[in-house]
Amino acid sequence: MNHFYIKENRLYAENFLVDDLAKEFGTPLYIYSKNQILKNYREISQPLVNSKLDYINCYAIKANSNPEILRLLAEEGAGAEVSSGGELYLALKFGYLRNKITFTGVGKTDEEIKYALKENIFNFTVESLQEINVISQIAHSLGIIARISIRVNPDIDAKTHPYITTGMKENKFGIDSKDIIDVFQTANRLPNIDIIGIHSHIGSQITEVQPYIDSVKYLGELIDKVEKMGLNIRYLNFGGGFGVRYKNVLTHRYIPTEPDEISYYASLGEHVESVIKLLSKFNKKLIIEPGRSLVANAGILAGKILYTKQGELKKFIITDTGMNDLMRPCLYQAYHQVVPTVLKDTGYETVDIVGPVCETSDFLATRRSIQKLERGDMFAVLTTGAYGYSLSSNYNARLRPAEVLVDGNKHQLIREREKVEELHY
Ligand code: LLP
Repeated sequence: MNHFYIKENRLYAENFLVDDLAKEFGTPLYIYSKNQILKNYREISQPLVNSKLDYINCYAIKANSNPEILRLLAEEGAGAEVSSGGELYLALKFGYLRNKITFTGVGKTDEEIKYALKENIFNFTVESLQEINVISQIAHSLGIIARISIRVNPDIDAKTHPYITTGMKENKFGIDSKDIIDVFQTANRLPNIDIIGIHSHIGSQITEVQPYIDSVKYLGELIDKVEKMGLNIRYLNFGGGFGVRYKNVLTHRYIPTEPDEISYYASLGEHVESVIKLLSKFNKKLIIEPGRSLVANAGILAGKILYTKQGELKKFIITDTGMNDLMRPCLYQAYHQVVPTVLKDTGYETVDIVGPVCETSDFLATRRSIQKLERGDMFAVLTTGAYGYSLSSNYNARLRPAEVLVDGNKHQLIREREKVEELHY
């Protein structure tokens, strides 16, 4: 995490002390590093640029759809992967070109399909035969041809959390391998459908390269089969899912090291690099859809300790931020490193760091070893730039936090803290 670092026992975001930002804007506060986002984007794109493959790097905007972050990546040349009419609206509004927007999702409504067709985005990734029929009918009523890619479920184990695998038989995504050829055949006969591509997204937070190699090999074989049927496949999309480090992101003599069950983290470039050779053979335009890997390590959530409480069995550190701002720990038991903004040599104690929400599952960390914390201390939850704010809620009528983007020694408030008057009932 290069742009968040510790210097002289203090936590920094680019050139700012996290403490100073927290004081200026209040907590809870999402802080993002512009230069980390750019670094991630360039690291993923570089092997593709070098390979001279034709490609579009479509940012999966569900990871973080703050308008400034959307703008930043659009200006870098990114396309967008959207999964709802709302995301399509945001992508169009914040600078993504129509010929770089791809629309995925198992449950697109008729209205969403009509909207996307009228906006003439370059691709629908379709997930069932029924959906293909609906798209064809709507395209017919508009007098146009819809461009689609068929999403296949290759039954590949991405070896990640069961809630975020998407490419196995038991998942709702894509079309099963056993039916895929029939679906290509049937779709190919529909008058208002142009099948331009093949898609597969096998899951999220994948830290090894092998699942991608398996997936691209599978897609290559499938392309051979369907091209023998006379189809002309132009796009190969292998989705997103590149994993990032959540444990031991920052190390320091006052921060205990956590055991990590993941022994190898492929770098962002490596994921793409590993399949380039295979891809070069197919001569297709490559689409990738990274979300987390672009923004996760470019964001932290700063919070403040409200109370400490010694229970009979454990000690609780009660903070002003919790599941309403960051859902991942409660939803997936996800681990996020928690780092005090001022590191001290107090020794460690084992605590549960919890939020203010009226739910037992409202925690940031459980059984966590950390320096002794007091009321008023500030801390940051690391690697929260992806699926942090975008999964936040108003539960308990709590207000969503503010968001700040730092760039060297400049900073910009990129979303104001919600106000009570903005709560909708
Ligand atoms: N493409 C498709 C079709 C997707 O469904 C997703 C994510 C992506 C691309 C981007 O995947 P990424 O590169 O971010 O792994 N909320 C969960 C992650 C859910 C991912 C949903 N789909 C989490 O916080 O871990």
